[in-house]
Amino acid sequence: MIVTARAHPNIALIKYWGNRDDALRLPANASISINLAGLETVTSVSFEPGLPADRIEIDGLPPARAAADRVVRHLDRVRALSGQGACARVVSRSNFPAGTGIASSASAFAALTVAASAASGLSLTEGDLSRLARVGSGSAARSIPDGFVELATGPHDKDACAYSLAGPGHWDVADCIALVSREAKSVGSSDGHRLATTSPLQSARVEDAPRRMELCRKAIRERDFPLLAEIVELDCLLMHAVMMTSRPPLVYWQPATVDILREIRAWRADGLPVAFTIDAGPNVHCLCEGGAAEEIASRLRQLPGVAQVLVCHPGEGASLLP
Ligand code: DP6
Repeated sequence: MIVTARAHPNIALIKYWGNRDDALRLPANASISINLAGLETVTSVSFEPGLPADRIEIDGLPPARAAADRVVRHLDRVRALSGQGACARVVSRSNFPAGTGIASSASAFAALTVAASAASGLSLTEGDLSRLARVGSGSAARSIPDGFVELATGPHDKDACAYSLAGPGHWDVADCIALVSREAKSVGSSDGHRLATTSPLQSARVEDAPRRMELCRKAIRERDFPLLAEIVELDCLLMHAVMMTSRPPLVYWQPATVDILREIRAWRADGLPVAFTIDAGPNVHCLCEGGAAEEIASRLRQLPGVAQVLVCHPGEGASLLP
């Protein structure tokens, strides 16, 4: 039986950076994100008794060794939980460029988790799917529930599970993603997470996380854009400060990244409801109230160094497709 699932990537408002347990991907701090409708990964999985090994195709090609091994390890987790003994055929396709700071691993592991668990005969709750997705990729846990999502954390596997704070229709915000580069980044998030504790700033960032989480929840609950802007930019800059002061340092920004940050602050000072956040890459996610999305996207397109602008609105969680 071939089972197909779809998941959206998500943009973190409060970032996950560093693990308290790398093998289980138990995050050092809790995080909050919004699923991004319009961008998606669709993955089909079938367990086929005759197959000598797992067969994986990503965007029409067999993936590089490390990516394939990561998928096989995730299929092994599903096999261990379900008792399914066969190898799997996995076909996955995303409609956005991987490795550019749009969290492709989030939608990839969320879709894989939903498709593989159903194909293996498992019937998991949303919480269990989220925990399982998290072990594949931390941010994938947040692509399982709907809309505005919190990923809790704690010392045990059961503690680190995501749930929806509000559905996608709760607040009309948009993410105008300014693509500065389509090149894959040189240091991926998994390696970056391992470096987090080498920065003397990481402990301060983690210690202050519950306060930022509370302010972000409040901003979402009350649809308070100025508060959201303040807390999202602070959280992003704290994470990049940790990255830049790790050993070795990780500097994901390019000159155009900094130019966009300055523009956004100037536009906000002029009254436009817009704020920036940046993941592990040079692209800038410009969050705005939905009504301002067209204006922001058109201003971004005029900036030198911006190759493309994608506009996304809050999306659903991962789901099985018929
Ligand atoms: C900067 O989930 O991509 O996007 O668990 O190793 O797959 P792995 O890392 P990943 O890390 C996400 C880092 C981030 C911030 C965030 O999305 O919270």
